[in-house]
Amino acid sequence: MSLVNIYGEFSCAKFLCPAYKYCMCGIVGYSGSQNAKAIVMDGLRTLEYRGYDSAGVALGGDRLKVFKTAGRVNALDAMLPAGGACHTAIGHTRWATHGKPNAVNAHPHLSYDKKIAVVHNGVLENCAELKSELAGKGISCVSETDSELLAHLLALEGGDMLEAVRRVGGKAKGSATFLAIREGDPAVYVFRKGASMLVAKGEYGSFAASDGLALARYVGTATVLQDDEYARITHDVCAIFKDGARIFKSSTPLRVSPPKECACHMRAEIDEIPAALERTYLKVSEALDDELADRVRRAKRVMLAGCGTAFHACRYGKLLLEQMAGICAEAVAASEADEGAPVDGDTLALFVTQSGETADTLLAMKRCAEGGAYTVAVTNVESSGAALAADKTLFLDAGAEVAVAATKSYCCQLLAVNMLARRVAGDILREEELKKLTNGAKECIARCELFEKRMLTDKLFLVGRGQDLVTAKEGALKLKEITYRQAEAYAAGELKHGPIALIDSESTVIALATREDCLPRMRATVSELRSRGAYVVGLSGAGDLGADKTVFLPSLEDVTLRPILCVLPLQELALCSSLCLGLDPDKPRNLAKSVTVI
Ligand code: AGP
Repeated sequence: MSLVNIYGEFSCAKFLCPAYKYCMCGIVGYSGSQNAKAIVMDGLRTLEYRGYDSAGVALGGDRLKVFKTAGRVNALDAMLPAGGACHTAIGHTRWATHGKPNAVNAHPHLSYDKKIAVVHNGVLENCAELKSELAGKGISCVSETDSELLAHLLALEGGDMLEAVRRVGGKAKGSATFLAIREGDPAVYVFRKGASMLVAKGEYGSFAASDGLALARYVGTATVLQDDEYARITHDVCAIFKDGARIFKSSTPLRVSPPKECACHMRAEIDEIPAALERTYLKVSEALDDELADRVRRAKRVMLAGCGTAFHACRYGKLLLEQMAGICAEAVAASEADEGAPVDGDTLALFVTQSGETADTLLAMKRCAEGGAYTVAVTNVESSGAALAADKTLFLDAGAEVAVAATKSYCCQLLAVNMLARRVAGDILREEELKKLTNGAKECIARCELFEKRMLTDKLFLVGRGQDLVTAKEGALKLKEITYRQAEAYAAGELKHGPIALIDSESTVIALATREDCLPRMRATVSELRSRGAYVVGLSGAGDLGADKTVFLPSLEDVTLRPILCVLPLQELALCSSLCLGLDPDKPRNLAKSVTVI
């Protein structure tokens, strides 16, 4: 089935940033008086979290020089010649969608006459058509990628390069955001369709990149291109065009700080959780108003949707809306959202997404908006597609998160939905309560007591009830993502209906309990597991579980906030396990930070 057929065209005018298609790459370009190679390599390092199968750069000048390799940006760095001053360059870091992640398929791609180099973010839906058009002219591709076609098409157009960019961009169907350079030309040419692209003019030249993080070191503001806009950027100008005419657009502040160089981003991001929670508290307090609380109360249907970790935050939010505010809510995986009943104008749909770029989430959001629902985005990226498309945004301000495994953003998502549920219930989270939470988080992070070598196993289980089941699921996801070991989470009461058959003396079970009222039933579960030979470790914020060993969470009066503490030892466990196995927790295999494919 064609992806085009599934998704058709967006009709909702609010979806101006449809990065919902299938592009999972980072691209960056520079033209100016500084060392273009160094600036583009720096950008690629920052954008590597968007894809790390292969990487490449093209350096401008009288003759183009292209360097590319399978693997990481460091491998690319190692193959670049020292020196080689040039003032124009483009680069790409890739998560393969078409063709294997090898050097041939890596970007940049050169045109048949070797005079034009292109980096592309997206997938050309009319790839076959364009390929046969080129074949008819005797031009064949050397790579398995669709992106190479763009370079040949630009060369075929000839003449004015800006006009060639407009024509080729217009001809490309699907998502075709690309940068191009031409030999003997100081400019970088930019075209945006489907995948995000920002351009900016700085003191020493102009920049283009797929996200603001790559620009933030050099400029304070940037212009977000919309579909079918294109640009010519040089040392002196950053000129934007649409339909053959120059347009003037305002630029927006880049409120992001590029993450500092560090050996392990996941480590740094966990350590930052207490500070991130404080920022989220401030931002969400500002944005939460009576109007939103009323809308939630009045809605006939309240839906929370997200993917992966964000979906777990939705499940927690659903429980709190029901328990605190008596509002019936449903939590759905955004990728499954269209399996339920269609939404209408009486629906309030809340979308949780760290990146604001997740294709499944944006698509679910689009469908809800088209059905007339009021949409709310809970996101960590202010200029993201989700934030731009939603009727209302709760911005997390957790700070840039680049490790693939979400940690600080999850804790901030939990805090944001907790604050929302309270507001709907006519209550607020007081600063003293936040302080206790952040102190507890600091203590948890400093302790790191859960990890044991026997947890490096494929027979690891996590069990809990209610809000603890949500945490168990998040812990299991974290372990799978960065250790590649099987870790499964089950509702404690469901074990005896089947999964307990998996338990034997090789099994390790982490039993979670953050609510006193769950203790008797959790103790019974622990006893059942131990009598079948499992080694059971309790993770408790409520009391003793009768386990082989129990790790106690710092005491926190507010039961509903305890999941924010309870997830921390599980994040630490996943991180320690990954490091112990000699893996790279920041860039686990087969994954990328923003899943912009459907
Ligand atoms: C989390 O550790 C994962 N990397 C993944 O499940 C992620 O939460 C999911 O892809 C959703 O991303 P988003 O929050 O950016 O929408």
